[in-house]
Amino acid sequence: MRETKRILVLAEGAQYRDAARAVSARFAGQVAVLPEGVAFEQALVQWRASRVGEPDSHARGDSRGDSRSRGGCRGDSRGDCSSRGDCRGDCRGDAVGEHTLAVRVGADGMSLIDLEPPHRCLRVDFAQPRLLRRLRGCAGREPLVHALRGKAARATTVLDATAGLGVDTAIAASRGLRVIAVERHAVLAALLRDGLSRASLDERTRSIAERITLMEADATAVLRDLGAANEPCVAYLDPMFADAAHKSALPSGAMQLVRALLHQEGASPQAENVADLLEAARAAAPRVVVKRPRTAPPLAGSAPHHSVRERTCRFDVYVR
Ligand SMILES: C[S@@+](CC[C@H](N)C(=O)[O-])C[C@H]1O[C@@H](n2cnc3c(N)ncnc32)[C@H](O)[C@@H]1O
Repeated sequence: MRETKRILVLAEGAQYRDAARAVSARFAGQVAVLPEGVAFEQALVQWRASRVGEPDSHARGDSRGDSRSRGGCRGDSRGDCSSRGDCRGDCRGDAVGEHTLAVRVGADGMSLIDLEPPHRCLRVDFAQPRLLRRLRGCAGREPLVHALRGKAARATTVLDATAGLGVDTAIAASRGLRVIAVERHAVLAALLRDGLSRASLDERTRSIAERITLMEADATAVLRDLGAANEPCVAYLDPMFADAAHKSALPSGAMQLVRALLHQEGASPQAENVADLLEAARAAAPRVVVKRPRTAPPLAGSAPHHSVRERTCRFDVYVR
C-alpha cells in the first residue's frame, strides 16, 4: 500500500486562495495557488520544472505562483475535463511533489483532478444533463428507488451509509425520500458538500438538495449510535466493489479517480469493514438495501430476503 500523503489543494487563481485554505483545513491539505489564464497542463509542466533541485519544496506549503490560469473543470460526477491555453506566466509552485491527485478550487467549485494527463477531473454536479434527466425521472424506472421503497412504498427516510459522490443519494432524494448521506472520506465529503451547496442554489436541483443531509462520519459508528427514535426507514450500502471491472453508480473514469484517491491516502476499498457495516445497518434499520455487482455473492455471505435487478448490478434487500 502506498504511503499516505497530504492532499494537494490547488486554488485556481489567487482569489480562491482563502477558499482553498478553508477546504484544505478540513483534511490537513496543502495549498498551492495556480496561475490564472494558463492551461492546467502547462502550469504543471512549469511547476515540476521549477522544483528540480529543490530538496524539500514539497513540505513548504503555499505556492508563490501568480500567473493566470484559464479553463477549468468541465467534467462532473460522470465525466472528464480538459484545459486549454498557453502558459504565459510565472508558474512557480512548491507543492506538486510526487502527488498524483489534487483537489482544485475555482469558479466552478471543487473538483478532484488527476495531475497526470489527460487530467481527468470530477466534481459533484447534480445539474449535469445525464444525471439531471435521471433526477427528473426521464430515464425510466429506477430499480434503486424500487428497492429502497419496497412494494408498500412506506419508506420516507434513507440513511445512505456510503454516499461517495452522491449519485445514488440524489436519485433517492429526487423521488421524495429524505436522505442522510454519510461519507467518511474527508475529500469525498468535501466534494459532495460543495456539490450540494451548488445544487441548493440551482432551481432545477434545489428541492433535491433540500432533502439531503450530509454527515462526514463513519457510518458504522453512526448506525450503532442511532437510537430507536432516530431509526431510518431504510439503510442503503454501496461499498466499493472489490473488482474494478464491476459497475458502480459512477462512470468508470470517475470511479478510477475515487479508487486512486482512496489508495493515495493509504486506504483501500478492501479495508472497508463491510461485514460490520452490514451488521450495524441491519440492527439499526428495518430495511437494508445493498448494491452488489450482478453476479457477485451477497455481501459478507449474508443471504438477502430478495433482490431487485438492473442491467449492471442488483440491489439485495434485507427486511426485519
Ligand atoms: C462505491 S462508493 C459509493 C458511491 C455512491 N453510491 C455514489 O452514488 O456516488 C463507496 C463510498 O463509501 C464510502 N464508505 C465506505 N465505508 C464507509 C463507512 N463505513 N462510512 C462512511 N462511508 C464509507 C467510501 O469512502 C466511498 O466513498
